[in-house]
Amino acid sequence: RTIVVLNGPNLNLLGVREPQVYGAETLADVEARCRRAAGAAGFDIDFRQSNHEGDLIDVIHQLRESAGFVVNLGAYTHTSIALRDALATVTGPIVEVHISNVHAREDFRHLSYVAPIAAGVIAGCGTLGYEFAIAVIADRLGAE
Ligand code: DQA
Repeated sequence: RTIVVLNGPNLNLLGVREPQVYGAETLADVEARCRRAAGAAGFDIDFRQSNHEGDLIDVIHQLRESAGFVVNLGAYTHTSIALRDALATVTGPIVEVHISNVHAREDFRHLSYVAPIAAGVIAGCGTLGYEFAIAVIADRLGAE
């Protein structure tokens, strides 16, 4: 069973981009964390990143029957009804992750179009949030 970890725009620059907000780890470090956490729970990881809204939608369509989705859609979280509609078609649980505490930041980061269809939301826990999200999905699926 595979958990998809889907990253949106600018997350390819993790470690370089505003490190005071997002930390020093790179996206490759986050991928390694996810693989470790998922492996321990008996899941595979399909780890993706795109800067393009339509590409993210295509990935969701292709992988929509995966066991679960961990999504950090970056700024598209706050703007994209199209991504929310795509995520509404997936069959497994979705956990939304933000590295930073979006609630402690600008007002425009307080709205998430994804949160209403997510099983849970994790924000402000740094890249550890991805591991928490995988644990949540594994727990949900284990109980099924
Ligand atoms: C983010 C928070 C978003 O508001 C921002 O646009 C990002 C990253 C986070 O992980 O903290 O790109 O999703």
